[in-house]
Amino acid sequence: MKVLTVVGARPQFIKAAPVSRALREGHTEILVHTGQHYDEAMSDVFFAELNIPQPNENLGVGSGTHGQQTAAMLAALEAQMMQHQPDWVLLYGDTNSTLAGALAAAKLNLRVAHVESGLRSYNRSMPEEINRVLTDHVSALLFCPTDAAVENLKQEGITAGVHHVGDVMVDALLDGRGRITERVTALQDEGITPGKFWLATIHRPANTDDVNALRGIVEGFAALDHAIVLPVHPRLKAALERENLSLPDNVIARQPASYLTMVALLDGAEIVITDSGGLQKEAYIMERPCVTVRPETEWVETVQAGWNRLAEPTPSALQAAVSAARTNVPQNHPDFYGDGRASHQIVALLADHA
Ligand code: UD1
Repeated sequence: MKVLTVVGARPQFIKAAPVSRALREGHTEILVHTGQHYDEAMSDVFFAELNIPQPNENLGVGSGTHGQQTAAMLAALEAQMMQHQPDWVLLYGDTNSTLAGALAAAKLNLRVAHVESGLRSYNRSMPEEINRVLTDHVSALLFCPTDAAVENLKQEGITAGVHHVGDVMVDALLDGRGRITERVTALQDEGITPGKFWLATIHRPANTDDVNALRGIVEGFAALDHAIVLPVHPRLKAALERENLSLPDNVIARQPASYLTMVALLDGAEIVITDSGGLQKEAYIMERPCVTVRPETEWVETVQAGWNRLAEPTPSALQAAVSAARTNVPQNHPDFYGDGRASHQIVALLADHA
C-alpha cells in the first residue's frame, strides 16, 4: 500500500509521528510537508524529537491570507498526488493544510482518509471548523477519536467509512511521557520548578486578533498573580507587538516549546490555561485541570467530566474559572481517548480498504 501523508502545522507533526511509524512497518509512505509552519521551533524540532523521517517534499508555502495559503498548497499538492498516485491520501485535523489536501485529492478521485474526524465546535467563524467539515465530507475513511465525533458525523449524514479508533495523541503522549527526564532538569535550570507553575498557551485568532480579548487575557494573567509559563506562538508574539502590550512579571514567556518540553511542562503544571485544541486533551490525559479560553470546545467530554472549564477572555472570568479548576478537581478520570493503539488500528483499516 502506498499512502501520501500531508502535514503542515505543528499539531500534525505530533499526530503523524506514531501513525507514520506504524505505517512504515509494512507499507510505503510519501510524506509531504506543506511548509505552513516553517520555523525551527514550530517545525524542525518536532521532526528531530519525534523521529519523523524527513519529508519527501517540502512545498515551502509559508504564510499568507487563508485564500493565498490554501490555494498555493492546493496547486502544489495536486502535482505531488499526480506524480505519486497513492492508494490513500492521509490527512490530519483541521488546518489549512488539511483542507488543501482534501480538495486536491477529491478532485483527482484519490481516496481521502481523515485522522481526527468528526470533531465539531459548531462555530463556523473558526477557520478550523470549515476545514474539518469540508474534509470529512470528501473522506472515504473517517477515523474518529471519540464517541461524540462519531455522533457528530451521523448528524451530518455520514456513517459509511466511519471508525472509532481512539486518539493518536494518546499514542504520541504515551511514547513521549517516558522521555522527559532531561527536559524536566533543563526547565529547572531555567527556574521552572514542577508543581510551582501553571502552563498557558494562546494562539487562536479570536483571542489574538481582537484587541479587547487580547487585553483581557494579558490583564487576566496579571490578576491571577501566580507563575505562568507561556510558550509564545508567533501569532501571539506579533499581536502583542502590534498592540504594544507587554506581559506581566508573573508570566514566564519563552519560545514555542518542543514536544518533549511541552510534555515536561504539562507534567509539572498544576493547571493549564489554553485556547489550543490539542493541549486541552493532553491536559486531560495527564490529569491536569484545564481552563479553555474559548466560547466552546470540540472536546466536550472533558468539560462534562469536570476536568475542563470554558472561560471568556476577561480577568474576572479567568479568575473564576481558575479558582474553580483548582478547588474542584474531579475524583473520576474516564478513559475517553483510547489506550495508545489508535495508530495501529488506522494502518490496519487503511490496508484492509486499500
Ligand atoms: C494553525 C491551524 C490551527 C492550529 C495551529 C497550531 C489553520 C487554519 N490553523 O494555526 O488549527 O491549531 O496551526 O499552531 O490552519 N508563523 C511563523 N512561523 C511559523 C509558523 C507560523 O512565524 O513557523 C506565523 C505565520 O506567519 C502567521 C502566524 O504565525 O502569521 C500563524 O500561522 P498560521 O499558518 O496562520 O496558522 P496558526 O495560527 O499557527
